[in-house]
Amino acid sequence: MFERIDYYAGDPILGLMEKYSADSNPNKVNLGIGIYYDENGVLPVLDCVKTAEERIADPIAPRPYLPMAGLPGHRKGCQELLFGKDAQILKDGLVATIATIGGSGALKVGAEFIHDWFPQAKCYVSDPTWGNHIAIFEGSDVEVGKYPYYDKANSSIKFDEMIAFFETLNKNDVILLHPCCHNPTGMDLTQAQWDTVLNVVKARELIPFMDIAYQGFGEDMDSDAYAIRKAVEMGLPLFVSNSFSKNLSLYGERVGGLSVVCPTVDETDRVFGQLNATVRRIYSSPPSHGGRVVDIVMNDEALHEQWVGEVYAMRDRIKAMRLKLKSVLEAKIPNRNFDYITRQNGMFSFTGLTPEQVERLQTEFGIYMVSNSRMCVAGLNTSNIDYVANAMADVLKD
Ligand code: LMR
Repeated sequence: MFERIDYYAGDPILGLMEKYSADSNPNKVNLGIGIYYDENGVLPVLDCVKTAEERIADPIAPRPYLPMAGLPGHRKGCQELLFGKDAQILKDGLVATIATIGGSGALKVGAEFIHDWFPQAKCYVSDPTWGNHIAIFEGSDVEVGKYPYYDKANSSIKFDEMIAFFETLNKNDVILLHPCCHNPTGMDLTQAQWDTVLNVVKARELIPFMDIAYQGFGEDMDSDAYAIRKAVEMGLPLFVSNSFSKNLSLYGERVGGLSVVCPTVDETDRVFGQLNATVRRIYSSPPSHGGRVVDIVMNDEALHEQWVGEVYAMRDRIKAMRLKLKSVLEAKIPNRNFDYITRQNGMFSFTGLTPEQVERLQTEFGIYMVSNSRMCVAGLNTSNIDYVANAMADVLKD
């Protein structure tokens, strides 16, 4: 009966976790999945989260179903983080936000909504992008295309090509954008470049869908949301998916949000209703624990401030690792340019290693990165960085 079912080849990112866990090499280093490990190689529980967990656990409360859209405090937390605490659109009630099962859940609900209400729309993703962007939109029967983004040869952005491509798109086509810490390249647009992109979006009446999974890891909470807030200022309709996996270190709790910025209150009501209906038919309502943590940390002023500090400490440690990696590699291979390492933002560095070089790092050194050459810099620490840099130098030289 099931013989005709295809075998699953596994996920190129999640599959690496399994391979890494099974590797008996005592020097192994996990630079695959986008997870922040601290200086001791440990997945941190943020102090602000510990406090929130204590409040949740005492007393242990009943667990009713949450509303389809999740906890109001979770939704408010998403909105204020993305659009700014005092944003006029929030006061005017022009944002439909639901709490979602991580950023992936937000993308899925958004993709379903686009399929249902904009059936002619195609979705264009950056070349390259996070693989699940393509899988999620195609899984909702939305046709996916790619727009030019990364120039491998020069470790830069193909900005003019990208703009020229956007100029060819049709009204209501969706473009999936990464407001900060582009996954997988780490190469972000400047604010001036964002302005140009959004002018094209406006002129061609495209639908921007911004996926922000690393807010706070680029420059700071506000600068990382520049593209989102600029689109709002320009009066554009906008989809935003956000994730708390990385910036609250709550990976397994699956907490995120989907926000749709609408032109009028009536349209906001309609959209919010349909987002609820979409949730109901996929998973009914979100789980409660992670949402409670988000609610507490985002809405308690002192905890929020503590949280921002903790995110910036993670950001700064990653930046320090970038500098160190660059300097060790430059010393080892002086005729090669490694500037890209510090020009990239967030957790990822697109190293430009060939699939064979990536494979050698894995088999000979127990160093795991994604086969497209993406390295999670947040997996480096002062104990493993020399080992990684030496191994990279080895495979690059041969
Ligand atoms: C990543 O890109 O590594 C993360 O977003 C984790 C994932 O689900 O792929």
